[in-house]
Amino acid sequence: MTSRRSLISLVFALLPLTAVSQEVEIDFSNGKSMYDAWCGRCHGLDGKGIVAEELELEAPPPDFSDCSFNSREPRKDWKAVITHGGQARGLSMSMPAWGEALTEKQIDLMIEHIKTFCPDRSWPQGELNFRRAQVTAKAFPENEALLIPTYTHAGARTSTTRFVYEERIGPKGQWEVSLPFSSNHSSSVNGLGDIEVAGKILLHDDLRTLSVVSAGLEVGLPTGDASSGLGSGTWKLVPFLAAGKDFGPFFLQSSIKYEHPLKGNEKELVYALAFTYPLIDGKKGLIPMLEFHGITSLGEGHTTLFLTPQLYVGLVKRGHIALSIGTQFPVAGEKLFDYRIVAFFLWEYADGGLWW
Ligand code: HEC
Repeated sequence: MTSRRSLISLVFALLPLTAVSQEVEIDFSNGKSMYDAWCGRCHGLDGKGIVAEELELEAPPPDFSDCSFNSREPRKDWKAVITHGGQARGLSMSMPAWGEALTEKQIDLMIEHIKTFCPDRSWPQGELNFRRAQVTAKAFPENEALLIPTYTHAGARTSTTRFVYEERIGPKGQWEVSLPFSSNHSSSVNGLGDIEVAGKILLHDDLRTLSVVSAGLEVGLPTGDASSGLGSGTWKLVPFLAAGKDFGPFFLQSSIKYEHPLKGNEKELVYALAFTYPLIDGKKGLIPMLEFHGITSLGEGHTTLFLTPQLYVGLVKRGHIALSIGTQFPVAGEKLFDYRIVAFFLWEYADGGLWW
């Protein structure tokens, strides 16, 4: 009963601000009843976050009826904010901490009520949004901008920096464009490589089994100068499948791509598996990953296998800015290079700015 007593004292503490809770009897086993009483005055009974001006909040409350916002964060991140207050995830202190007054169960019930503000059940839930690996394609649709530098040490040393922009379309779709700039340090050839555009659609997402599958198509454009080694000189079609599953302490992601150039005979199958073991519960900190991938050339039947140990670093508490760095080694088959340093810098632009 202690929690109920402290709850009641909390309600009294908030009384001057809380017109609703003075009159309404609160049902402590009903998410809507509790939300209406304690959260409604800031978040709105309809969840839209339109509040009276005299509340003078430091930050505007989010619109829970916006399905894209409502679905994209895992419940445990919301739970951390409701329990410890906005600052737990780098948000405004205007969002108070409720952990002293409420039980976990009550917080869970309110979260499920907040989820009902998005009536469209087809939006995939943030729990299935696994952190990006270096090679394996990601199944979850994203609003992301990435800068991907790569340095390859072989006979000729080359580096490529790729800029990728991804944007969600509706609940399940996403399009993206990828612009590569390459330089060959031995021959001093620099320039734009083959631009790629791609579309992806979620085929399966299930919160019960914590699994997600999507399919997509990449199209490679022959924009790079093939004679100086910057491009392939041909259009390329690359259909792919990507999947992910949470196994509790770790999660796995996998993808398979079929690369089909319209000219030449260099058809390839690229398959990848990424194993992730998060060392942190929140978003800021280190997340080690180990990736295995293979390339089989279908024309000649050659296969090369690679290992890529890497570290994903969440740079901010909100998790929308991150860095990943790793080293890739060929471990079997044709030795295409000695080693490759791979990295990406990631910004989930819908979740916050780059510098604040
Ligand atoms: C005093 C006003 C106020 C009250 C009361 C309040 N909130 Fe908030 N809440 C906010 C503000 C402001 C934000 C946005 C913070 C930001 O974006 O920096 C927020 C953000 C949130 C978020 C989004 C977190 C995220 O990760 O983006 C959730 C979920 C939430 N509140 C749940 C609740 C629940 C549940 C209650 C009631 C138990 C509640 N809030 C009560 C002001 C309030």
